[in-house]
Amino acid sequence: METSFEETIQQHWAPDPPGTILSRIKQGLLELGKDIDALTQDDLLAVDEFHIRGREATTELATLADVSNEDRVIDLGSGLGGPSRYLASTTGCCVDGIDLTAEYCAIATELARRVGLAANINYQRANALELPFGEDTFDLAWTQHISMNIQDKARFFSEMFRILKVGGRAAIYDPICGSGEPIRFPVPWARDDSTNFLIDANKTRRHIEKAGFRIEKWHDVSEKSVAWFEKNAKLAAEKGPQALGLHLLLGSDWPVMAKNMAENIAAGSISVIQVVARKGS
Ligand SMILES: C[S@@+](CC[C@H](N)C(=O)[O-])C[C@H]1O[C@@H](n2cnc3c(N)ncnc32)[C@H](O)[C@@H]1O
Repeated sequence: METSFEETIQQHWAPDPPGTILSRIKQGLLELGKDIDALTQDDLLAVDEFHIRGREATTELATLADVSNEDRVIDLGSGLGGPSRYLASTTGCCVDGIDLTAEYCAIATELARRVGLAANINYQRANALELPFGEDTFDLAWTQHISMNIQDKARFFSEMFRILKVGGRAAIYDPICGSGEPIRFPVPWARDDSTNFLIDANKTRRHIEKAGFRIEKWHDVSEKSVAWFEKNAKLAAEKGPQALGLHLLLGSDWPVMAKNMAENIAAGSISVIQVVARKGS
């Protein structure tokens, strides 16, 4: 039977049999001497903030979007849930996380339970292009590093707009096309062009605005991103393989994916942006 695009994306992010990633994470935590029955959010930092600059980037975006306990938040492409758990624990907000990869949703649910946040967060498998929520439901639509896999950007931003209340914000943190030079594969979201849908800054702006948003903040954080990759490469060279890290998700290709990302951003073929946009009245 032919593999659907959704299955291809899931297989990319969770290539091994179900349960494998969580077992590897537990093993990694044990190797680090962590008590998996008394986990803290910080114990998971190396593996559950699945985007450039990890927790630092999540903290910055949360500040830019001014997240508070009054916000009902949706995290589109919530992954293993590090960012949603950070938002829920630091502000007291409630979060719905949706992600196309069923296994990530199951792991995120288990990790939220283990760190005592099950009451604030609900994860479910869904496609960001068909959100299982009604209009005017959320105060904040949060998304980090998923749009690279999404070809239909118009639909992506209009779904975000639809489920937001009037006055609600979208907080977006994504790699985009830079100079137009070809990018070097594999990168974390794509082994080749078939699952890569980066567009440039002008097109991204146009899609966001066409969906109905007013862009309030737009920051290019490419330089910080290169510095982060360089720091990590240096640490990896000094310390060797780590017990816990993103290699537990994407396997032995991870080092070359990270190296290519660093080179793509340094060469200008990929940029990294933070955006806050508002659904006006
Ligand atoms: C790099 S991870 C980012 C996870 C999380 N946002 C984070 O920053 O930790 C990319 C995620 O995008 C998800 N994804 C890709 N396309 C999607 C779609 N159309 N709808 C929902 N999730 C999607 C993948 O399943 C994967 O979990």
